[in-house]
Amino acid sequence: MDTFRYYMPTEVFFGKGIAKKKKMLFSQLGRRAYIITYTIPGRHYALEDVKEILEEFSIPYVVETGIEENPSTETVERAVASVQDFAPDFIIGIGGGSPIDAAKAIGVLLANPGKRAEQLFDDSGLQSLPIIGIPTTAGTGAEVTHFSVLTRTSQNTKQAIAPRIFPRYALLDAGYLMEMPLRLSCATSIDALCHCLESYISTAASDLSRSICEIGFSYFSQCVDTMRQVLGNPDLAESVTPYPYEVREKHMMVSLIGGIANTQTGTCLPHGMSYALTQSKHIPHGLACGLLIGEYLKIFKDPVNIARVERAVHLCGFRDVDDFSDFIDRMLLLKDDITPTLEEIKSYAEEFFQQKHRFARHPESAGKEEVLRIYTNSLLKKKH
Ligand SMILES: [Fe+2]
Repeated sequence: MDTFRYYMPTEVFFGKGIAKKKKMLFSQLGRRAYIITYTIPGRHYALEDVKEILEEFSIPYVVETGIEENPSTETVERAVASVQDFAPDFIIGIGGGSPIDAAKAIGVLLANPGKRAEQLFDDSGLQSLPIIGIPTTAGTGAEVTHFSVLTRTSQNTKQAIAPRIFPRYALLDAGYLMEMPLRLSCATSIDALCHCLESYISTAASDLSRSICEIGFSYFSQCVDTMRQVLGNPDLAESVTPYPYEVREKHMMVSLIGGIANTQTGTCLPHGMSYALTQSKHIPHGLACGLLIGEYLKIFKDPVNIARVERAVHLCGFRDVDDFSDFIDRMLLLKDDITPTLEEIKSYAEEFFQQKHRFARHPESAGKEEVLRIYTNSLLKKKH
């Protein structure tokens, strides 16, 4: 067996009503709290629970709701400036990836007064204020990863900050997923599944990280029948997904496991290749990964890798890669024509091919031809 390292320092608590059951954790992190989240038209149950807990312990708090998707360095600095005088002791990140990613970067800047957001990309030794991560989607796994990806405006790109900031605690309650609309449910669960799949295939994977991914595949497979029924009714795309709590809980497990696995290995080609689609066509992250994953799984030549891919899709509940790919296509729920031109596809492939580090964890030799084939087969066949 190869040597490996496995590191996951976030303390995870999972279950219905877990935030209130573990309310003492909040009181142990300090006397002043900073909550970073988002606004929604309906009730924000996770935020309501957190406020109630903080008020019970007489912990004053400030709430930030102005974090955009793919938060920018400017947004992070603005948030820090707005809360500096309040001087929070700890941060609670509630949301999908963006608020929790922002919480990590803001936590570093608050713990290191005088630092600018641009310096976060160079200084890996910086620490953060303690963070509690509370997911309200089941996709990124940001509550257990050390990643904080920011839009670096000066370079016109997205980039992870250098410090590895793990939340101190992750509190996962599938009850917070119950009102997610189907489109968001699908996009986020594709993202979570891609984290597991790309980690499973990565050269950085170990027997231990792969065994955890296999548990994630198994949880996904237990949701497939319910998802098939729901996806059979296209009118539901914008509605609250009628998944029972037990299915939400399994999706949340896939997301948690994807985060844990992703922390050990990073992601592989589909994630790297998806960024061009998000940047140029504004395709949400999970959907962009989902567009590419099926064709990616078909490019392997080595029998060991082919067998690994087949095992993964079987464990996810599918006959073969085609069966898997068809199902993911249905989950995309594409409403707009997102098809790039052939010229655009060639430019994505050319640009991606220049980023040699993106190929480091792909287990076979792959070049421009493979990249172009994945993009072309994925995007030109999905005309709507
Ligand atoms: Fe992702």
